[in-house]
Amino acid sequence: MTKTPRLPVAELHCHIEATVSPADARRLAARHGLDISHAFNGAGSYRWSTFNEFLEIYDAVSEAIRTPEDYAEITAHYFERMAAKGLIYGELIVSPAHAERFGVHYAELMDAIAGAMREAEASHGITGRIIATAVRHYGPENAEKAARAAAASPHPFVTGFGMAGDEAFGEMRDYQRAFDIARDAGLRLTVHAGEILGPDSVAQAISLFNVSRIGHGVRALENKRLVDEIREREITLEVCPTSNVAIGLFPSIAAHPVRRLHEAGLKVTLNSDDPAFFNTDPVKEYALCADAHGFSHAELVGFTHNAIDAAFCDDATKRRLRDRINTSKKT
Ligand code: ADE
Ligand code: ZN
Repeated sequence: MTKTPRLPVAELHCHIEATVSPADARRLAARHGLDISHAFNGAGSYRWSTFNEFLEIYDAVSEAIRTPEDYAEITAHYFERMAAKGLIYGELIVSPAHAERFGVHYAELMDAIAGAMREAEASHGITGRIIATAVRHYGPENAEKAARAAAASPHPFVTGFGMAGDEAFGEMRDYQRAFDIARDAGLRLTVHAGEILGPDSVAQAISLFNVSRIGHGVRALENKRLVDEIREREITLEVCPTSNVAIGLFPSIAAHPVRRLHEAGLKVTLNSDDPAFFNTDPVKEYALCADAHGFSHAELVGFTHNAIDAAFCDDATKRRLRDRINTSKKT
């Protein structure tokens, strides 16, 4: 891999449970006396092949994250490691339903993660925010519960609401109430679409939820009018190249349409999605895309600017982050 010059990186799409390495998952499982050995293959990596198996193993791994302290610890680890590699801003996708299974309530969950983010900012200069997320295959009621929890307990670090999970489960319109509740609570919106399902899922996400960002969205390219709409509305795509390759959407990073999305004038950002499952991280995504698609340093910095422009944080924080990008250009 060519060494790209050190550049400031920002990430908008990373699931908190998926930042936990297999070794750390084993450690957390041992802490709680759990056996999650079925989550690992002989080489010690997470064991899955299809997308649905991935979601199952993902849930198994998340069983080992059971307390507010666990959540704080994994946030601290991820942010410390990523800050050392050049991440200046990261949003973590956090599912209240996952934590609720173990009696960790919404407010204590978010306090724990935000506390670790504050410490990471003070110690390592990395800024974090949280996207409370619904999990689509847990159903619409569960999604509304997550949105109501976010609305009932506003937190300055929880600035977005989204939906992950199995895109093929149910209908997008079944989740409209959840998104309405979140929007009314002042949260910014994103949703996984156009990853497993085609362009219609992206079109529905835009028309039903009026999101400012789409998680993935890569399959929007299959419909030119939709591409025009995304560009005109300045909707940002949270593109996750290695994740898409791992899930089998594209055979390689070289075959990934990230350059076509960029050249179609869309606001592209580069993200890891599930770093510990896909053996990646946001900085690696920049390097992989630079290598496979010849993005220049300026284009890569442009992706970071796109991320900050679309970030779910306040304008003063954005100004500070832009200053950091501009300062690092001169060094
Ligand atoms: N949850 C965690 N990773 C996901 C992905 N790539 N797609 C949908 N849901 C997810
Ligand atoms: Zn995702």
